[in-house]
Amino acid sequence: MKGLILAGGKGTRLYPSTNVISKQLLPIFDKPMIYYPIATLMLGGIRDIVIISTPTDIPNYQKLLGDGKQWGLSFEYCVQEKPEGIAQAFIITEALIKNEKVCLILGDNLFYGKLDFFRNAIKNLASATIFAYEVENPQSYGVVVLDKDKKPIDIIEKPKVFVSKWAIPGLYLFDERVSEFAKRLQPSSRGELEITDLQKMYLAFGELQVEIIGRGIAWLDTGTPSNLIDAALFIRAIEQRQGRKIACLEEIALNLGYITKSDFIRFVEQMPDSDYKRYCIKVYEEHSE
Ligand code: G1P
Repeated sequence: MKGLILAGGKGTRLYPSTNVISKQLLPIFDKPMIYYPIATLMLGGIRDIVIISTPTDIPNYQKLLGDGKQWGLSFEYCVQEKPEGIAQAFIITEALIKNEKVCLILGDNLFYGKLDFFRNAIKNLASATIFAYEVENPQSYGVVVLDKDKKPIDIIEKPKVFVSKWAIPGLYLFDERVSEFAKRLQPSSRGELEITDLQKMYLAFGELQVEIIGRGIAWLDTGTPSNLIDAALFIRAIEQRQGRKIACLEEIALNLGYITKSDFIRFVEQMPDSDYKRYCIKVYEEHSE
């Protein structure tokens, strides 16, 4: 399965912080935002990843993340010339997807908790799977209307009136037909190829699976200044309590066997003296071969 991370967009809700830097490069407490979705994909077992961003930001992502080998991953980069919608990601990466199944995660979506819901969805993927998460502000998201058996009936992007409490997080699984279907979409009134319209296509075929994410998982939004600080404080609270970092990519790679212990320490030794490096050394010392 291919992973796509969409790290484009203008980040206008975070203006002026996003004037010269891409939103997904801003820190969430002690590491760049994009580390979190990379961690999510890694924990789902996805190692071939395409990072999509704007022409000006791609060089920064390349500088930060490289080819991914240091974490036992493979990164490719793809330019989205204009922010013309999330679903456009499947059109511009068509040649890279190469008829594989695809998992798209938005670069500003942060998941915390035991990711069994995600691993199971990958394992059981038939055509398309989206997730549903109960929120207080469904008007800010794409939402799915469920019937009494929790089967999807309708999907609406940012509904102005209340139709459902079930927001659709920015984590989507699609089969090999996704690029084909994305090409059939028409731009919405805001000029974008909407990810919700793509979901609706699968729904119309009776092929959309919806999995509810339970209360044991935190799905955090990082789109506004307040959301950003809330997410940072959430990460800090847990990290400081346990002395364990969330989304430390080196640690995840080591624990999942994506890299060896000697690969790990070789990379860590190059890090500047920092809290992050000290944590990695702790991970190294406690890791048994
Ligand atoms: C996008 C999608 C929306 C989804 C949300 C999740 O909205 O359009 O369907 O629920 O991401 O983060 P945006 O955050 O781009 O406004």
